Amino acid sequence: MSKVRAGILGTGHSYPEGILTNADLEKIVETTDEWITTRTGIKQRRKAAPGEYTSQFAVRASQEAIERARVDPADIDLILCATVTPDQILPSTACLIQAQLGANQAAAMDIVAACSGFLYGLSLADVMIRGGQAKCVLVIGAEILTRYVDYTDRATCVLFGDGAGAAIVGPVEGDRGILATKMRSDGRYEEQLYAPGGGTKGGFTAETIARGDHFFKMKGNEVFKIAVRSMAEISRNVLGQAGLKTEDVNLFIPHQANQRITDAVANTLNVDQSLVYSNIAMHGNTSSASIPIGLDECVEAGRVKEGDVILMAAFGGGFTWGGVVMRW
Ligand code: ACO
Repeated sequence: MSKVRAGILGTGHSYPEGILTNADLEKIVETTDEWITTRTGIKQRRKAAPGEYTSQFAVRASQEAIERARVDPADIDLILCATVTPDQILPSTACLIQAQLGANQAAAMDIVAACSGFLYGLSLADVMIRGGQAKCVLVIGAEILTRYVDYTDRATCVLFGDGAGAAIVGPVEGDRGILATKMRSDGRYEEQLYAPGGGTKGGFTAETIARGDHFFKMKGNEVFKIAVRSMAEISRNVLGQAGLKTEDVNLFIPHQANQRITDAVANTLNVDQSLVYSNIAMHGNTSSASIPIGLDECVEAGRVKEGDVILMAAFGGGFTWGGVVMRW
């Protein structure tokens, strides 16, 4: 590997106009704004309208990232779209994005790693760029989770929202760029967070649909504990690889699953709350989209300055988890 580093050259995000508030959910399931707020920190989430689909938001987020990075779609070598809610089973959502962007030189594929998908994508982009295999990689996290939510299951339907975030990754000079990455998984936990229907194992028939096998099912309590432990552990791992300590972190953008998970991870790592980004109140859990949306919101708000150390950590269905540390 050469000494070239990969860095983020531009970011973007997009989400549906439709808003589903806690008050709206009070009318659908037996829940309260008070329960949702205290247990999760969520006040509202975006919800795609019928007819809207994942690649539309991914393309809008990507166009913003492309414009800010000042690259041409024809310069993109690789498109990685992290999603568990693709437009369709075949072709990949990344290919549909490739066509809509006119990225006519790009390879394209999806990454199915749930909430860790964007960090998996950044890790792969980093390797491709440092190895000289690519000069411009578009990494996207995009989801329409509300299509896979069972609005009779109050334990899951209050959590998830829709949106997309994107980043253009390319070679950078000097001290900046991606300093360390780590990806992990443990498929033994399949049934803690899964959608059994729709594939070759669970099938896709009138019965599976009637049973709601295609909806997300989660043992939230179990996921919670392992999420906190894994996100803290992988954060320490990437900081250690980069020769950094938690005191060096200027901004921590964790996957937005639950405010209590974010607080517990920050406390475990001893990162001051003022350095932790949270948008869960406005977006809920948008799975692979949550970190790139958060990153772009921080960029837009002027919350990241040149030289800042940014730590990102995610945990999701699989289980999968990942960490990335970079200097902006
Ligand atoms: N409104 C009111 N009551 C509720 C609701 C609701 N929306 N949901 C659950 N309850 C009730 C339960 O029925 C239970 O009642 P009981 O005590 O009478 O049995 C009680 O509240 C407590 O339920 P718990 O599941 O123990 O609640 P908990 O505090 O664990 O919060 C939550 C649930 C929010 C799901 C939490 O466990 C969580 O955030 N888990 C992690 C989610 C996560 O990180 N997912 C991974 C990423 S997502 C991805 O990969 C796509």
